[in-house]
Amino acid sequence: MHRILIIGVGSIGERHLRTFKATNRAELCLCETGEQLRRTVADRYGVTRVFANLDEALGDRCFDAAVVCVPSHLHIPMARQLVDAGVHVFIEKPLSLNLDGIDELMRRIDEQGVKAAVAYTYRSHPALRSMKQAIIEGRFGRPVQVVSTWGQHFPKYRPAYRQIYYTSRATGGGAIQDVLTHAINAGEFLVGPIDRIVADAAHQVLEGVEVEDTVHVIARHGSVMGCYSLNQHQAPNENTITVICERGTARFDLNHARWQSMTEPEGGWKTEFQFSRERDDIFVHQAHLFMDYLEGKSGPACTVAEGWQTLRVNLTVLGAAFNPPWVPLVG
Ligand SMILES: NC(=O)c1ccc[n+]([C@@H]2O[C@H](COP(=O)([O-])OP(=O)(O)OC[C@H]3O[C@@H](n4cnc5c(N)ncnc54)[C@H](O)[C@@H]3O)[C@@H](O)[C@H]2O)c1
Repeated sequence: MHRILIIGVGSIGERHLRTFKATNRAELCLCETGEQLRRTVADRYGVTRVFANLDEALGDRCFDAAVVCVPSHLHIPMARQLVDAGVHVFIEKPLSLNLDGIDELMRRIDEQGVKAAVAYTYRSHPALRSMKQAIIEGRFGRPVQVVSTWGQHFPKYRPAYRQIYYTSRATGGGAIQDVLTHAINAGEFLVGPIDRIVADAAHQVLEGVEVEDTVHVIARHGSVMGCYSLNQHQAPNENTITVICERGTARFDLNHARWQSMTEPEGGWKTEFQFSRERDDIFVHQAHLFMDYLEGKSGPACTVAEGWQTLRVNLTVLGAAFNPPWVPLVG
């Protein structure tokens, strides 16, 4: 049995707690500063080792690995404390909100010989992993373009958005750091790292916040052209990543939990892989992959270096998106 500490049992921390437990491969303990929440979640899942802060948890040391589920500005200092104490870490996305302390963290991970990964969930999605494999094997030829289209009604799925870290970019809020980062990381997983971007973002709809809720990014992953559009207010739940290759097109569709391909005009889509639509299932799968990594059966689904690369894209998009170099129309 793995002994795992969940740090922060808010929205995603509770899900990690539930889904790690569902693997039957882990004994869980938790650490949460909010007293009421700490008690409620501990009772709900029958967790008996419960801590009010990380120092208290490190004093008890009833765990070998920790899942860092606190707001993103706390990820690096907390991961550093854990790694210094010899604890394996699974860090929620984004890795951080700036580049401070990441070089030192990576150095300490090496020195301490601990395992570390970033929880970019899509990298654990069996359908996305299967699609990547087909692309790597060259089934459709050379990838030339990636088109990522995401939209979701944030108030429906995260009604508390006005009360959490989301309200401020300094704590990880706004569409770019909170959600676009998943799309960017998944795109980089499929066709390689982004090396330059053009971006546009604005607050268009969401009530009670001023951070951007709508984003467009044009990117280059080397020679592969990329296009990312995302909003957090449309009614339809859309999440597709299409990779257009020289001889075929592959499309991941989260909401239909599948990937499909098409190689002939009017040839129709062929469903290549279908997965469960139950949201917890992907997190159970992610937990299994992380524990496989701890056991040396596989590498991490997303390394810290890959999380750092996506963080550089986040920061570049933030720097570019609010004053893009618009070109006036001719004539
Ligand atoms: N992978 C995903 O799909 C996904 C989804 C949502 C959020 N996230 C990421 O997870 C992180 C948390 O997001 P959330 O939506 O769960 O936020 P949240 O606000 O719901 O929960 C964060 C929890 O951390 C607790 N906390 C804060 N500081 C603490 C500390 N020092 N020690 C212990 N507990 C502390 C808070 O009290 C709160 O309960 C963010 O980095 C976010 O980007 C990832």
